Amino acid sequence: MNSFSGGPGTAATRPRTDAPAPAAASPPASPPATSAPPGQAASAQAAPGQAAPAQAAPGHTPPARGRAPEPLYGGRATRRVTVSDLAAAKARGEKWPMLTAYDALTAGVFDQAGIPVLLVGDSAGMVVFGHDTTIPVTVDELIPLTAAVVRGTSRALIVADLPFGSYQASPAAALAAATRFLKEAGAHAVKLEGGHRVLRQVEDLVAAGIPVMAHLGLTPQSVNAFGGYRVQGRGEDGEQLLHDAKAMEVAGAFSIVLECVPAELAARVTAAVSIPTIGIGAGPDCDAQVLVWQDMAGLSPRTPKFVKRYADLAGLLGRAAQSFAEDVVGGAFPDEQHSYR
Ligand code: KIV
Repeated sequence: MNSFSGGPGTAATRPRTDAPAPAAASPPASPPATSAPPGQAASAQAAPGQAAPAQAAPGHTPPARGRAPEPLYGGRATRRVTVSDLAAAKARGEKWPMLTAYDALTAGVFDQAGIPVLLVGDSAGMVVFGHDTTIPVTVDELIPLTAAVVRGTSRALIVADLPFGSYQASPAAALAAATRFLKEAGAHAVKLEGGHRVLRQVEDLVAAGIPVMAHLGLTPQSVNAFGGYRVQGRGEDGEQLLHDAKAMEVAGAFSIVLECVPAELAARVTAAVSIPTIGIGAGPDCDAQVLVWQDMAGLSPRTPKFVKRYADLAGLLGRAAQSFAEDVVGGAFPDEQHSYR
């Protein structure tokens, strides 16, 4: 299933001097993972971009002074990634990957692989629940998926998508929905779609201490208004999108997904804002890139232009299912080795 959702890829790695400077890393909050992500040492080490505490907390070793910050991907840090780490990565001009996740085991694989940010997208409406769009999925359906992803991970920052209808009516509605994701599921941040029209929602969530990821361009919850899944921001619409992005930054969003917009526009947005842009179908100049994992791994039946398939999971699973079926029908499974005495 192709969820045509995801944000824009992106851009410009032009660091802004007013962004928070990466500082010495803090000690890990959790023991080292048994299998470290590519390029990651198995031992616990400093985290990227965290300010050194004035005084070490009891039981914590103070970070070494002057140590270079760990990269978001491929670093040795084992504690949870924070929104401050993402700001520091933007300031360093460092790119990072993000994937969707909807269950504990898959999220655990991505966490161990070193993916620093996982999104429990409303694309679950399509890839998990089988709807044609993201519109039908509800807060009640997404909360258990988000809780599972949080439980299955120890390092990734977990972002919960606010589904259609849960935040548009008012800032109070947005606060109520976001609060549920933080309290009931343990999410660390929320994402919502739209620019100026959700400005007050973003301001109120940020004022309440909830990190907000914005989402501009092709916002799939508005598919009926767009008349289909089409590239957004061409021509003069691009100026509006740029204004929306700046408004989201001023409102306090910590990042912006840019979905299906021209690469050149995504590059302009990325250069114009001090917060990271996360591209999906938005070209190479965004600060980060996100894909729906089933699209990335070749489980979805359709592959839109902006998706690169890194595996053929549908083929692999199909062949595994057939081998199992043949063994059962032919009596080869279970054999001695897989039976109890
Ligand atoms: O719902 C989703 O999966 C998304 C992204 C892929 C950005 O919004």
